[in-house]
Amino acid sequence: MNRLGVYILGARGNVATTVITGAMAISQGRAPATGLVTAGPEFKGVVLAGVQDIVFGGCDISAVALADKAIEIGHSRILPLDLARDLKTELNDLDRRIATVEGFRFGTLPRGGYLAELARVEERLARFRVDHGLDRVVVVNLCSTEPHFAETPDFDSPDSLLTALPKAPAGFCTATLINALAALRQGCAYVNFTPSQGSELPALRKIARDLRLPHAGKDGKTGETLLKTVLGPMFLARNLKVLSWVGNNFLGNNDGAVLEAPAAKDSKLRQKDAALREMLGGDSFVRTDIQYVPSLGDWKTAWDLIHFEGFLGTQMTFQFTWQGCDSALAAPLVLDLVRLVDAAWRNGESGLLPQLSPFFKNPLDGHTHDFARQMANLYAWADQLRGARAGARR
Ligand SMILES: NC(=O)c1ccc[n+]([C@@H]2O[C@H](COP(=O)([O-])OP(=O)(O)OC[C@H]3O[C@@H](n4cnc5c(N)ncnc54)[C@H](O)[C@@H]3O)[C@@H](O)[C@H]2O)c1
Repeated sequence: MNRLGVYILGARGNVATTVITGAMAISQGRAPATGLVTAGPEFKGVVLAGVQDIVFGGCDISAVALADKAIEIGHSRILPLDLARDLKTELNDLDRRIATVEGFRFGTLPRGGYLAELARVEERLARFRVDHGLDRVVVVNLCSTEPHFAETPDFDSPDSLLTALPKAPAGFCTATLINALAALRQGCAYVNFTPSQGSELPALRKIARDLRLPHAGKDGKTGETLLKTVLGPMFLARNLKVLSWVGNNFLGNNDGAVLEAPAAKDSKLRQKDAALREMLGGDSFVRTDIQYVPSLGDWKTAWDLIHFEGFLGTQMTFQFTWQGCDSALAAPLVLDLVRLVDAAWRNGESGLLPQLSPFFKNPLDGHTHDFARQMANLYAWADQLRGARAGARR
């Protein structure tokens, strides 16, 4: 199998550091692949890139070295501190492949304007591919959540977007949009693990279709929403009427601090509520909130209250409390996504990949939010890949 590169946007964040350190640990046989869907028996016989064969690179606006970040999150028990210390040399080596970039905040213009920023991102991606002799590059967005911006007709087609960019005012779009556009124009596959607007915009979907590139998103489904998409279908299947479903999330990491800003919180809550609203329909009262609690660090606590009605109108409640380590839940999914997007690409698939819907809170082009059905679709696709391989061997 030829060489696969993974370019992470936000490569020195909590999730990215856990992904890279975890991939090193698995590759060296220091940790099992617990949490990776692609390491399960359903994927036996499917040709996937080996975790040890992935060439990582990326960029971040933070200059904190990857090894220091790994030790910092080791102290927070996100990953074993010993592991972070033992891998210090390898992490420092890998850090040389991570560019410290300026980026730009939503509401400001990047240096030289949007087109200049697009050119800088494209140049970095092209260099990553050439420097490491890569055949395919998957770009994964793990940057901080950005505000939701208004979609105008400028985003409808690649031509209108590229015509609008040179004279567009500050606040026209986010760094996520520019990064996604650069990734696709450079012939990379793209995965949006964040709630920000990326490749789902019509202009970018068209570029992906025209260049026959796969892309997927958005917003990784790791904790509370995962439970919602398991439990919601249960209430529906038993014909129990959900009157209200309210949830509150408490988290204290940098992601939580970023979500303190009302515009970023709005962007996240749009994704978090979408699954329940779509599954339950308009009659149920659905509300989710996020609170920043610094002392909790990466240990997100979600508390949900479900008030429902049964036979003869009898009302009941169900509550759950979930305490998960956000980055440890997210990191294996990122590795899964990279391997599966790559497998789809090698199989000649392009555009949005609906089979990857179980990985996302708001799956683009996914047909259902029901986790069990999503997994059944993913396994059916794995069977197809295995079948195609067996057919090719005969
Ligand atoms: N952890 C989870 O369970 C989970 C689930 C779903 C989605 N997400 C999303 O994944 C993303 C990453 O989460 P995290 O906990 O690692 O956050 P984090 O704050 O630790 O990391 C984000 C990184 O992005 C960098 N960054 C910000 N803007 C940038 C830019 N324009 N260019 C390059 N780098 C930039 C920051 O410096 C930081 O290092 C967030 O958007 C979060 O909402 C996380």
